[in-house]
Amino acid sequence: MAAARPSGAGVPGRTALPERTIGAAWRQARSRLAAAGVDSAAAEASWLLEAVTGLAPARQRLHPDTPLSTSQRRRLARALERRCAREPLQMVLGETEFYGLRLSVRPGVLVPRPETELLVEHALADLSEARPTTVIDVGTGGGAVALALAARRPLARIVASDVDPAALALARRNARALGLALTLCRADLLQHPRLCAAARSADLLVANLPYLPESDRGTLPPELAWESGAALFAGREGLSVARRLRAQAWRALRPGAVAWWELDARNAERFAREALAVGWPQAGLAADLVGRRRFVRLVR
Ligand SMILES: C[S@@+](CC[C@H](N)C(=O)[O-])C[C@H]1O[C@@H](n2cnc3c(N)ncnc32)[C@H](O)[C@@H]1O
Repeated sequence: MAAARPSGAGVPGRTALPERTIGAAWRQARSRLAAAGVDSAAAEASWLLEAVTGLAPARQRLHPDTPLSTSQRRRLARALERRCAREPLQMVLGETEFYGLRLSVRPGVLVPRPETELLVEHALADLSEARPTTVIDVGTGGGAVALALAARRPLARIVASDVDPAALALARRNARALGLALTLCRADLLQHPRLCAAARSADLLVANLPYLPESDRGTLPPELAWESGAALFAGREGLSVARRLRAQAWRALRPGAVAWWELDARNAERFAREALAVGWPQAGLAADLVGRRRFVRLVR
């Protein structure tokens, strides 16, 4: 799904070419980014310059008089325009790092977030290294979680699904680039014969699905306007998609299978309580790095 583009963004050629040396261009970029409301303007100015010149930030500081070619200045101008329109930095750079993997990103597909690395950590703790296992990643986006699990558990068969064909195309591209095997499937949650079959023998299901309440629309940082709303919002409470998957997983998974969910801290506990009430034998919560309990572990 195409991301909403904030109005006035990205008119080519509107910005004059940046300064001619690295040091001067960095100062100029930093002040433009700060004026656009970007929090880490100094660091981001260095990263944009690194993308354009190939020079790491430390080398940029050591050699501020290094000249920029006209083509480098044009690329920097375009990158600055996009970032000043509050397009996420990772989209401007075209890539991000997740769990030690370099992944391509594209507008409209959710940029994997650092906190989701904890979902991977939790899932790995439940996944044998010594024997073949089956894992289902529902709502895989660009494949971040599925690929991180595939990289750490070479014996696992990983089946990853998404409802959005653009997300699946990106996941396929990332898998190819990393030489990792994923079985990709376009489906509404588990509603696909291949996913239902995989679920019957699955050891683990992971899901980082949309979990924000609709009421958050309009209160979020401008960067989120570049991501698909269908990847972010899930009804009035933020639980509509997760609840639907929980009901499907209850029917599809075998007893003993584990399901890990990333949810909003405002509703993870309620989700776990509801799971116990509808018969899941075990439900636990885990915190993120700042202590918010937002990962839920259910045992079928
Ligand atoms: C928050 S994003 C997370 C993407 C990825 N799991 C990650 O951690 O980076 C949620 C993903 O769920 C997908 N999604 C939303 N509703 C879905 C549904 N009903 N069935 C399958 N995927 C869905 C979206 O297209 C999006 O790629």
